[in-house]
Amino acid sequence: MCGIVGYVGKEQAAPILLDGLQKLEYRGYDSAGVCIGNGNQLQVVKAKGRLAHLAELTDGGKSLHGTVGIGHTRWATHGAPSDENSHPHAADQGKIVVVHNGIIENYQKLKEMLQANGKRFHSETDTEVVANLVEYFYDQGFDFKMSVRKAVERIEGSYALGILCRDYPGTIIAVKKDSPLIFGFGDGCSYIASDVPAILKYTRDVAYLNDGDMVIFTDHDALFFDGAGDPITKTPEHITWDTEAAEKGGYEHFMLKEIHEQPKAIRDTLSPRMKDGTIVLDDITLTADYLKKLRRVYAVACGSAYYVGVQSKYIIEKLCQVPVEPVLASEFRYADPVLGEDTLVLIISQSGETADTLAALRLAKEKGARTLAIVNVVGSSIAKLADDVIYTWAGPEIAVATTKAYSTQLAVVDLLALYMAQCLGTVESERFNSLYGELQSLPEKVEQVLDTSVIEKIQYYASRYFNNRDVFYIGRNLDSATCLEGSLKLKEIAYLHSEAYAAGELKHGPISLIEDGTLVVAIATNRALFDKTMSNVKEVKARGAEVLGLTVPSCEEEIHKTVDSVVLIPETDTLFQPNLSIVPLQCFAYYVALMRGCDVDKPRNLAKSVTVE
Ligand code: AGP
Repeated sequence: MCGIVGYVGKEQAAPILLDGLQKLEYRGYDSAGVCIGNGNQLQVVKAKGRLAHLAELTDGGKSLHGTVGIGHTRWATHGAPSDENSHPHAADQGKIVVVHNGIIENYQKLKEMLQANGKRFHSETDTEVVANLVEYFYDQGFDFKMSVRKAVERIEGSYALGILCRDYPGTIIAVKKDSPLIFGFGDGCSYIASDVPAILKYTRDVAYLNDGDMVIFTDHDALFFDGAGDPITKTPEHITWDTEAAEKGGYEHFMLKEIHEQPKAIRDTLSPRMKDGTIVLDDITLTADYLKKLRRVYAVACGSAYYVGVQSKYIIEKLCQVPVEPVLASEFRYADPVLGEDTLVLIISQSGETADTLAALRLAKEKGARTLAIVNVVGSSIAKLADDVIYTWAGPEIAVATTKAYSTQLAVVDLLALYMAQCLGTVESERFNSLYGELQSLPEKVEQVLDTSVIEKIQYYASRYFNNRDVFYIGRNLDSATCLEGSLKLKEIAYLHSEAYAAGELKHGPISLIEDGTLVVAIATNRALFDKTMSNVKEVKARGAEVLGLTVPSCEEEIHKTVDSVVLIPETDTLFQPNLSIVPLQCFAYYVALMRGCDVDKPRNLAKSVTVE
C-alpha cells in the first residue's frame, strides 16, 4: 500500500518527510518521492527503488530547501514501478502537485476528457489524472480549495490525497475517501500521514479524517471540512502506542491486520469491475469469440494460490461449462500438458515471482497456450510475461501466511467465471443477477464473519483444541477446496499436523487415523450436500472424533444434532460460500498459533516469495 506524509512548519521539510516515509516502509513499496515547496517553487524528486536511493539523491533531504512538502512511497497499481510512475505527480502546467493513495476507477474517462482539453500526461498512473483535474478547474478561475473540491466530486474510487499548489506557498490540502489519512497536530507545524508511525516521533496528537473530510493547513492553522463542504472541528486523539504496534495498526501481528483488511481488499478488487449489472474486465483481451472456442482451462499455481485454482474448477465449470484442471506449477512443467490456442492457462500468484509458477507460465507460452495471470504485485515477472493480467487489489501482504491475497484471488476467479458466463451466455439472466448481487455483497458479509462475537467463539475453540496432535478438515465440493487452505494455514503457522480430505474419501483410508479426541473440522455450507457430509461426520464421531462444524444459518439446527460445536457464517450463493468460510479458518489457525507460542508473521522454514524451484 502506498504511504503518504505531509509536513508544513518552520523546519526543513524534506528530512522530516524522508524520516516519516521510512516509518511506512513496512507497508511495502517500489518507488518513492517528495515535493518540496520553497516560495513559489515546487521541486519534485522521485525515483524507483528503495528510500535509501531517494535519500542519496537528496543528501538525506538536506539539498531540498523549503518548509512545506509532501512525500510518498508507491506500491504500483496503474503502471509498473518506474521513475515516471512514482509520486508526486505534477499537473501539465506544474501548478498542482499531488500524492495519492488508492485507486481512481474512472481515471481513463477523466484522462480522455483532460487530454481533449489540452492536458498532457507523462505517466501511466491514475494519480496524474487527479493532478491535472485539479489544475483544470484551477485554470477555470476556481481557487485552490474549490478546485480540489470540484475534482474530488468527479473522481470515482478510493483516495487519500496530499496536494500542493504553486500559488499557495506554505499550504497543503488533504482529502480522503476509502483510504486512510490522519492529521497530526504539532507546535507551529502540522502533518498528514497515511498511518500513525510516520509522524509518531513528532506528535502523538492526531485526528483521523473521515470519508469526504478535507483539511487545509499551514504552519499556524488547520481548517477542517466535511464532505458537504461544511466546516467541522477535529479533536486531537492522543496516541499511547509505540511505533511497532502502530505499524500494525494496533494489531498484534500483520497476519491479523491482513485478515481484518479482507473486506476492503475484496471491495477494492471487485467494485471497479462491476458496473451497472455487468462484469467489466476491460484490462484483458479475452473476447467472446475466443471464449467460444475455448476447450480447456488449466489453473496453475503453488500453495494457497493453487487452492484458489482448485476452487476455480468448481466455479468456472459450474457457470461456464468449460473443463478446468487445477495443476501444481511444480508438476505442470513435467507432466507434458496438452496445450494450444484453445487452452487458457490461468496463472495465480500473489508475488508474481514464484519460480515454479513463472516456469509454468513460460512453458505455457512456448507451447502456444493463451495465458491469463491473477497477480497482486504490479510489474512482477509473471504480470509482465502473461498475455493478460487481472490484478488483485489486496495491497502488499507482509505476513508469510497469505490471507487477503487468497481472498482477493478467489474474488477474481468469481469475477472471471461470471465474465466468461456473460460472454458465453451459459447462465440465465435471473441467476446471473442473483450471483452478481451476492458477489457485490461479499465484503459486508466478510465483515460480519469478522464480528467480535464470531472471533471470540473462534478464540475459545482455539484455546480448547490448540494442544491436539492432529486436525482433519473435511467437506465436499467447494467446501473440500476450502479445507485445503484451512489445513495449510494451520500447518504453516501453528506447526500442527493437519490434513484436508474430501469428506467422502475418508473411509478409503484416512479414517484409520481417527481416535478418541481427534479434532475434525467439518465444513458443510452446501445445502444439497449437507446430509452426505453429515454421514461422514457420523463416521468420524463413531470413532471418537471431536467435531467442529462450520455452516450457514439454514443448516444450523440440523448440524447441532451431529457435531460438538458450531461456527456460523452468513449465507450467500453456494458458489461464493468459500469466500466466507475461509475467514474463520484463518482466524482459527491464527489463534491456535498464538496459543502455541509460534512466530505468526514469520513461520519457521518459510519465505514470503519462493523464488527457487
Ligand atoms: C500461503 O500461506 C503460502 N505462503 C504459500 O503457499 C503461497 O501461497 C505460495 O508460495 C504461492 O505464492 P505466490 O502466490 O506468491 O505465487
